[in-house]
Amino acid sequence: MDENRLDIDEGFRRPAPSRGQIFAIVFLTGIGLSLFYGLSTLSFHYSSTNKFCSSQCHEMVEPFQQYLKSSHYDSERGVVADCADCHLPPGEVNRWYAKVRQGVKDTVMHFLLEPEDIDHQKWKMSAVKNIRSESCERCHKNLFPSGQRRGGFLAHRAFKKGEVKSCLNCHVNLVHVRREI
Ligand code: HEC
Ligand code: HEC
Ligand code: HEC
Repeated sequence: MDENRLDIDEGFRRPAPSRGQIFAIVFLTGIGLSLFYGLSTLSFHYSSTNKFCSSQCHEMVEPFQQYLKSSHYDSERGVVADCADCHLPPGEVNRWYAKVRQGVKDTVMHFLLEPEDIDHQKWKMSAVKNIRSESCERCHKNLFPSGQRRGGFLAHRAFKKGEVKSCLNCHVNLVHVRREI
């Protein structure tokens, strides 16, 4: 046999990973994934809190002040709806998608806009487009409570039949309106 002959196949052959190595790979991947999941969930939740939504940007000062006076915050029995309850759709995947999309848009706007360019009326229209009735229905599950007046009954029946598309077709200026103090 020629001593200088290289066994190419031998060079490509890798020893099978030992049990210890397999264990280490699985273990480290597990830790990596948990860290990723934990951190992204944490930042997701933090940036969905009322505190974050209202304190990071001057654009949100007015909507926040109005919210504090609205029936969804200053309610008789103290039940509160958070910004994200209405502004993000239900369902984990949908929430992520909406949040990333709106987050990027809001951030870009934040750096592009001068304070005098802020147009809350225009934003209302885009908010109306983004808010899903399913978000409202997570709390308002019963649209036909006893003692409801006929007007409400007929309107909600029309909604249930699909004749009217969104809660916001009727319930406009729900939260963010100028109110006398
Ligand atoms: C009960 C549901 C609800 C809650 C809670 C809520 N919003 Fe809204 N938001 C709306 C609706 C509906 C609109 C569309 C305009 C309207 O009808 O008032 C809107 C519009 C907006 C707009 C665009 C209009 C503008 O004035 O610029 C911003 C910004 C906004 N909301 C931010 C917030 C923030 C920040 C919070 C929490 C502090 C919050 N919202 C809480 C329902 C809600
Ligand atoms: C987190 C729960 C929650 C969510 C989400 C929510 N609401 Fe409400 N809503 C309430 C509570 C609680 C009250 C009652 C407050 C009170 O005691 O007056 C209320 C009150 C109302 C009222 C009657 C008071 C008023 O201001 O006219 C309407 C109409 C209404 N909600 C519509 C909506 C619509 C439309 C949405 C979706 C954009 C929505 N709500 C989302 C909890 C919620
Ligand atoms: C076609 C119009 C229409 C649609 C769509 C509609 N509503 Fe209503 N809603 C009304 C009317 C009208 C009333 C009765 C108001 C009254 O009696 O003062 C009412 C009453 C209510 C009330 C009680 C308000 C109070 O002051 O007691 C709540 C809460 C409410 N709607 C939530 C919703 C939610 C949530 C949706 C979507 C899932 C929705 N509505 C869709 C027209 C509508």
